[in-house]
Amino acid sequence: MNNPKRITITAALPYTNGPVHIGHLAGVYVPADIYARYQRLIGMDVAFVCGSDEHGVPITIKAKREGITPQQVVDKYHAIIKKSFSDFGISFDNYSRTSAKIHHDTASEFFTKLYNDGKFIEEVTEQLYDEEANQFLADRFVVGTCPKCGYEESYGDQCENCGTSHNATDLINPKSAISGSKPVTRDTRHWFLPLDQYQDWLNDWILKEHKKDWKANVYGQCKSWIDDGLRPRAVTRDLDWGIPVPVEGAEGKVLYVWFDAPIGYISSTREWAEREGKDWEPYWKSEDTKLLHFIGKDNIVFHCIIFPSMLKAEGSFILPDNVPANEFLNLEGNKISTSKNWAVWLHEYLEEFPGQQDVLRYVLTANAPETKDNDFTWADFQARNNNELVAIFGNFINRVVVLTHKYYDGQVPSPAEFSKVDRDTLKELQFAPEVISSSLERYRFREAQGKLMDVARLGNKYLADEEPWKTIKTNEERTRTVMYVALQIASAMAVLSEPFLPHTSRKLNRILGVSSNDAGQENHIENSWNDISQKQELLPSGHQIGTSELLFSKIENEQIQQQLDKLAASKKANETMNATVEPQKDTITFEDFTKLDMRVGTIISAEKMPKTKKLLVLKVDTGIDTRTIVSGIAESFTAEEVVGKRVTVLVNLAPRALRGVDSEGMILMTETPEGKLVFINPDDDVPNGSSIS
Ligand code: 2FM
Ligand code: ZN
Repeated sequence: MNNPKRITITAALPYTNGPVHIGHLAGVYVPADIYARYQRLIGMDVAFVCGSDEHGVPITIKAKREGITPQQVVDKYHAIIKKSFSDFGISFDNYSRTSAKIHHDTASEFFTKLYNDGKFIEEVTEQLYDEEANQFLADRFVVGTCPKCGYEESYGDQCENCGTSHNATDLINPKSAISGSKPVTRDTRHWFLPLDQYQDWLNDWILKEHKKDWKANVYGQCKSWIDDGLRPRAVTRDLDWGIPVPVEGAEGKVLYVWFDAPIGYISSTREWAEREGKDWEPYWKSEDTKLLHFIGKDNIVFHCIIFPSMLKAEGSFILPDNVPANEFLNLEGNKISTSKNWAVWLHEYLEEFPGQQDVLRYVLTANAPETKDNDFTWADFQARNNNELVAIFGNFINRVVVLTHKYYDGQVPSPAEFSKVDRDTLKELQFAPEVISSSLERYRFREAQGKLMDVARLGNKYLADEEPWKTIKTNEERTRTVMYVALQIASAMAVLSEPFLPHTSRKLNRILGVSSNDAGQENHIENSWNDISQKQELLPSGHQIGTSELLFSKIENEQIQQQLDKLAASKKANETMNATVEPQKDTITFEDFTKLDMRVGTIISAEKMPKTKKLLVLKVDTGIDTRTIVSGIAESFTAEEVVGKRVTVLVNLAPRALRGVDSEGMILMTETPEGKLVFINPDDDVPNGSSIS
């Protein structure tokens, strides 16, 4: 849309059944925040809204598991999530929650309008029912095989493997997630949004009209959905947690979470407008408003097909101009998983890297999963901090500030005649806002941040070429000019970095003695995005800069190792939890058991069997004799390690020859989940030869 008057930016409402992690930040909230901050900087009227998605089955499952109420679950995580967003500088104009009264009212009104206008189909259909738990199985209460891709753990409403959204009754071999039992079907009345009736309109709106500028991943998913043919979708559920269906005779039914959640964007805007004394309607109903939904790829169908159809059905709302959905971020090569604790949790990151929010924002943007899934690694995190933020951005600012204090007591010097290099450098600086904007306007945040760093590179190169630390001894005028130009670049960095690195931008303004809060003071300077290309100078001669502070600090190997150890511990805990326990073997008689002669023994010598990987030739004192046992343990132990080990030996196993050596018994072992062998050895000090029975 060209020249909108205002922009409504929504960021996916996070489910309130756990804290938020780097995947959330990279996929949705950092890009949305960069965009919102940038738009505000260029003077746009912005409503940036979000809130907690507090309904839905996962929350009730969590509550059941923890023996608390769903409200207690959402109260706990709403507070944690809200704080994480604020700590990371996500500048929502409003962060609401779907359990708020304003949301219940807004969603109920929306449903009622569609109901009264006859936009729903009301139908009694068969739904899955768990006879043990005595309840209908909606959405995540049921798992089964995805009818589209064959994934066996698909949920009732959506397959996490292929992203398809379906009805629970479509699942093959459904199983209750509550009791594990096979569900039966029962008749129940529900309201459906007949998406098939919107098929042609969606086809025109997305495929024919102007949506070719949507990202390829978004457009592709929409096309495949529309081409497959759309079917009516139930927008109500038989559940007791959610917004009651506002229709007589609908007791025990609530709105489907994906019906109420996107309406949460509207209620959050209303809540904000009420607080600010504004009118919310233009932000959702005026044709000169640009509506944008920032989401992850698993939410595409809901934001591009279902929610627009709801808005269209309602009739008075605008539709999204774009839905810049991201792909997923993996962590150290594996999918981020809450249940496996394979994640970097934002609240934990802040405890471990206090004050370093912007480093994470930077790395997540530099490596954002904009067009394909990407991987976050701690090594990359360290490298980007040390080699880019510290070595390029931080180093430039530090040199400029230190030299200004050293040569001019912290006052911006007045320039003499500009050379060609100076003029070219200042010209390039003037183009920077436009260059960065052009990437931002196309939702290319990685590219935009790269161009921001190019400005710091420009500054570094300029200083390295002009060498004010040398000219100070020979040419005072030249030094003043170079330092003046370098200070203009530093000042532009404070503005241009604000959308990406808001904490750094604030700190840099402080260092440069520029603070937008000191209006009215003699030294007051306020630079906007466009000032960089329009103003003669950003920092005037004579301006007193602040004291020097380091913008970024180096991240040491030990800090990175700690994070890797933490992940390794999660992996181990998971493996232990998931270690498959072999099924019990066939029953034996007591007589069978007494045939086994097991004794306590000690390994008295060991050597590697030549030309084998696995075998050690052991001499074992069994109390009865000293005998040779060939054991397949060489991949877990060296020969030296096992000498002196107390072991349990099956002594009456028929001898057999292994690589020409007679083995007279077996050492009993077990295995850790990682596959390392472990001896079964007696705890107490019993003599060799003691019988085990
Ligand atoms: O995927 C999720 O985390 C959902 N809670 C997103 C909801 S977005 C919306 F429409 F509110
Ligand atoms: Zn699937």
